[in-house]
Amino acid sequence: MTVKLQAGDRVALLTSGGDAPGMNAALRAAAKVGTSLGLDVVGVEDGYVGLMAGRIVALDLRALDEASRRGGTVLGSARSKVFPTAEGQAKAREVIARERLSGLIVIGGNGSLTGARTLRDADGPRGKLLVGGIPASIDNDLACTTMAIGVDTAMNTIVDACDRIADTASAHRRTFVVEVMGRDCGYLAMTSGVAAGADAVLVPEIGKSEASIVDQVVEMMVDAYTRNTGKRRVLIIKAEGVKVDSASLRERVELAVKEKLPDVDTRVTVLGHVVRGGTPSAFDRLLGARLAHGAMRALCDGESDFMAGWIGPGAMPSSETKLSPHDPYVVLTGLDAVLRETERLMKGDSHVAQWRRKIFSEIEPILSK
Ligand code: F6P
Repeated sequence: MTVKLQAGDRVALLTSGGDAPGMNAALRAAAKVGTSLGLDVVGVEDGYVGLMAGRIVALDLRALDEASRRGGTVLGSARSKVFPTAEGQAKAREVIARERLSGLIVIGGNGSLTGARTLRDADGPRGKLLVGGIPASIDNDLACTTMAIGVDTAMNTIVDACDRIADTASAHRRTFVVEVMGRDCGYLAMTSGVAAGADAVLVPEIGKSEASIVDQVVEMMVDAYTRNTGKRRVLIIKAEGVKVDSASLRERVELAVKEKLPDVDTRVTVLGHVVRGGTPSAFDRLLGARLAHGAMRALCDGESDFMAGWIGPGAMPSSETKLSPHDPYVVLTGLDAVLRETERLMKGDSHVAQWRRKIFSEIEPILSK
């Protein structure tokens, strides 16, 4: 039987895993929507670590107004090793019961939503805890949503950095390898590489060996600098998931081009956590707000065990997905289906993974032309 939330019921918000720009905008929207529906919306500090320790805090809507313009998460985040254990689970369940939580919204990536799923049968004051997830991860490695919160900002940050690097690279007729985050997923590298006008993008999805990556880069560099096309720089975006050390790639490439391109230097820039911070783009603020609105309204309607995703009208990512009655772009997919599809995405088996590989393989040979 569906138990709808009632005025006065307590719903907690929790951010977990790697922070993503736009998390604060999602917190603000969830708090505003929940409060306007009469709910008692509270925050959990530092993700599942704070949940196990019972660190539940009141939320200040005015502070969230300010925070929604900033990156990071005002609630704090963590990666907990204890939470998945039996001891951790027991602590979290005890806190949920003691704090009389009727609902929990987890904002985070794959690991965070896996954690959310384990709490779907926790006891709340009026039956089972209602659990909803909101995808937030710069890696865009979650299925059943076109975009996760933070991806757009991270892409913009990478493109901005590449534009700066391209200026100095062109001035010196240099090659730059720019390494970007993304864990095992090449989405950020592919999309920002295209947007930044990179000459090559190295992603794990293509599965090349170190030797063939070196050959590809060398061939492309020789062609780019010797074909007389006026090219004064070569920009290579390398996803961190490509298990070739950027410094060793540089060394091997420099050695291989020494004779043919004696005047061309190669440099490496690892963007690292720079990609994860910073002011959220307008898109990420809006995405955070609309997903939070969809998730909070769904929880209120008595929905549980779902992730609120972002999909254009008409495109359903799974047979287990349903439309949010509150926003045509927001879809609700059961956490089991989300996590299963995410595994397929990362193995390269899913429809989305195949599309990504197909598009990328088609454009890869022309990037440097
Ligand atoms: O999942 C987000 C992410 O930033 C990945 O791109 C990266 O591999 C990882 O988190 C880094 O994690 P940490 O900040 O814990 O080192």
